[in-house]
Amino acid sequence: MSAGFGVYIHWPFCVAKCPYCDFNSHVRTSFDEARWVAGIVRELEAIASRQDMRPPVESVFFGGGTPSLMQAQSVGAVLEAIARLWPMADNAEITLEANPNSVEQARFREYRTAGVNRVSVGVQALNDADLAFLGRKHDAKEARHAAALAVEIFPRASLDLIYARPTQSVEEWKEELRAALSFGSEHLSLYQLTIEPGTAFATAHAQGKLTTPGDDHAAALYEVTQELCEAAGRPAYEISNHARAGAECRHNLIYWRYGDYAGAGPGAHGRISLGAQRFATQAERLPERWLAKTEELGSSLIWEEISREDAAREHLVMAMRLAEGMNIDTYERRWNASLPRAQMAALTAENFLVQADGHIAATPRGRLVLNRVISELAA
Ligand SMILES: C[S@@+](CC[C@H](N)C(=O)[O-])C[C@H]1O[C@@H](n2cnc3c(N)ncnc32)[C@H](O)[C@@H]1O
Ligand code: SF4
Repeated sequence: MSAGFGVYIHWPFCVAKCPYCDFNSHVRTSFDEARWVAGIVRELEAIASRQDMRPPVESVFFGGGTPSLMQAQSVGAVLEAIARLWPMADNAEITLEANPNSVEQARFREYRTAGVNRVSVGVQALNDADLAFLGRKHDAKEARHAAALAVEIFPRASLDLIYARPTQSVEEWKEELRAALSFGSEHLSLYQLTIEPGTAFATAHAQGKLTTPGDDHAAALYEVTQELCEAAGRPAYEISNHARAGAECRHNLIYWRYGDYAGAGPGAHGRISLGAQRFATQAERLPERWLAKTEELGSSLIWEEISREDAAREHLVMAMRLAEGMNIDTYERRWNASLPRAQMAALTAENFLVQADGHIAATPRGRLVLNRVISELAA
């Protein structure tokens, strides 16, 4: 199966910086949006100009930051540029991440008109106290409204929630997750709160002012998440991602099946195959420096060739996150490498790995020690 080709657009601006977030997001109050859009288009042109063969675009993903702060006209202009540079696959998935506070009915409808057919709403929590703790600029009522609107307006919708918050009980999370499932979105991304270095939460954590659930409690929360989503017909297809069959995020599947993707915008990264060579691209992270580079040089991207060994390992790391696992034949032919059969047998005997239909996949037990499983397979 070909992993396909996607385009990622990073919009780096947010209304406020959430205390847990280490994404490349920046608070800026006034800027000339058209200049930023022009920079993104130039960076996309620079990528396309290196590709002799321009593959069809199966997915476009506007991520952030907060792309729902973009004017619909800007989203439309980027989509037009993409369609000019690459052939668009029929029914290409066009996703935009939206924050509930920046969402209003008019803009949602305008995004839909501009060509967005999938929205990912950052609900994060469904009670006001936890939303305030997470530093969110919306309340639970707005989150519910945005979720309902997303399901109504877009053919496809996903909701993001963060769980395993300090003091969150299993019962509280079950109730909240049931409510999130009741909105009827085909897809949910459910992340355990992670303390990321350099964030305000990391400082509070280091000072003992913030504690996260211990391993046993986190495991119990993870388990009920799997149970409730499975019972609601949205089983996990990746560690944190749950969907109805056929409603998996095609964009993320491109990453996890180790396909190619162009990445434009501050801090965006990409993976592009040119002939037999595979390149990692990295855009300048700081927004103003990124803008200056796109205006002076056409693009801020640094291209670095990935060795075959590194690419093979990266493929393994990505694919083993998926419930479907990795196709053995595809991997071995692509990298001209053999997976270690003795280690595979040992991991299978220990119930860390399953082998079926030409795939290897981590079992639920294996997923808890995924780094070890990958290290043994990559040995
Ligand atoms: C790019 S971010 C956010 C997109 C959008 N700006 C928002 O805030 O909803 C994508 C998702 O990552 C998750 N996330 C970010 N930082 C996290 C952390 N430290 N722990 C757990 N989940 C996190 C959140 O659920 C978030 O919706
Ligand atoms: S979580 Fe979203 S809104 Fe909050 S700072 Fe990160 S990207 Fe911005």
